Amino acid sequence: MEALKVDISKVFGFVPKADIYGLAADAVAHARALEKKTGKGNDFLGWVNLPSAISDVELKDIEKTAFMIRKQVEAVVVIGIGGSYLGTRAVAEALSHSFLHLKKNRKNPIILYAGQNIGEDYLNELMEILNGMKYAIVVISKSGTTTEPAIAFRILKNHLEKRAGRAAAKDLIIAITDAQKGALRSTATKEGYKTYVIPDDVGGRYSVLTPVGLVPLAISGIDVRALVKGAIDMEKLASSSVPFEQNPCNLYAAARTMLYRSGKNIEILANFENKLHFVAEWWKQLYGESEGKEGKGIFPASVDLSADLHSMGQYIQEGERVLIETVISVNETSTRLEIPKTKEDLDGLNYIAGKRVDTVNKMAELGTMLAHVDGGVPNIRIELPKLNEYYLGQLMYFFEKACGISGYLLGVNPFDQPGVEAYKKNMFALLEKRGFEEETKKLRTRIL
Ligand code: PA5
Repeated sequence: MEALKVDISKVFGFVPKADIYGLAADAVAHARALEKKTGKGNDFLGWVNLPSAISDVELKDIEKTAFMIRKQVEAVVVIGIGGSYLGTRAVAEALSHSFLHLKKNRKNPIILYAGQNIGEDYLNELMEILNGMKYAIVVISKSGTTTEPAIAFRILKNHLEKRAGRAAAKDLIIAITDAQKGALRSTATKEGYKTYVIPDDVGGRYSVLTPVGLVPLAISGIDVRALVKGAIDMEKLASSSVPFEQNPCNLYAAARTMLYRSGKNIEILANFENKLHFVAEWWKQLYGESEGKEGKGIFPASVDLSADLHSMGQYIQEGERVLIETVISVNETSTRLEIPKTKEDLDGLNYIAGKRVDTVNKMAELGTMLAHVDGGVPNIRIELPKLNEYYLGQLMYFFEKACGISGYLLGVNPFDQPGVEAYKKNMFALLEKRGFEEETKKLRTRIL
């Protein structure tokens, strides 16, 4: 089995290898605590065994639903935010044709997203597009009460019912939520929607391998079995019984932890395959929400290269020396393209004629790594053999497990997110929601 590889050798010029390896015992102990569910936040560790725990019956049921929906619609609107949105988008965009929306004779429905913002124009423009399409809705919310997706669902449910009729709309709506609690569960029960459950012990940002990710991805034609298989294999490769120096999660977690302790407090996830843009968005939530608490934690940022070398490249090369650069490098492209030779060589590119575009991309990657390391930015390289379902499954489980270990090394609970409540409280108070009267009064005084 080929596997994702982690190379931390370009970190040793910044923190000694011995210091990173000095964290081995702690990292292994934390990995074991995740597996035995004995550490902080242990009521949210369902994701640790999720890949191997997904049953064939569950997968068959998801595939059956996906098949039924795929036959009927051109688009599926996935309504959700944060952990109920980013995993799906990360996998879907990494594996889709870059111009899917413009492609003629598409085999599978396209995914459109709603509920990840509160943009009035966004929703109106989405409905304008949906007016000309047959579509289904997959609404995802663990709590079933999050404001952004709730607003989008109310509006789009109305839209779909008006267009298809209430009876037909019922069969085009799938709800993924808590088994019992929340407004979405009550609506789904009352309306008779097909539903899937988000396990109690899996938090949003660790939920891509539950129905949260698997249902919409299967509808869009992605091979969810291969995704799960990749994660199952990574569950084994990242087990605490694998020696520290061969364990990708331990190496990554220990390297970034030592860099953080040496003053590098921003980590940039860089890609040279722009289809990975949303993998970085997913990763930012995973690490930002898991580690950014108690006044601590690496700030996760991201760049798409080589595009951002022409914007953020200047800062990375010469700005404040607080950065870590982690590159996701993909070995093989899915297609080939050579640079043609021209007689006149007007653009002066004949020196690379006959070379593949990907060869140039790989040299850009290598040149960037050398330049940034020379400029004082340590580099961690995560190498994927190819961009497909299997290796994305490996990558996502790798990042999840490494995040748990890293959070424990930092001394925080990586599975809660108390800080996300602050803005909600203010928004509800400003909107004069019942129960927030005191806060409304206090905020009014502050604003006036
Ligand atoms: O990771 C998390 O817990 C959050 O990002 C949630 O997924 C997000 O806030 C959406 O919550 P819910 O699924 O309850 O609507």
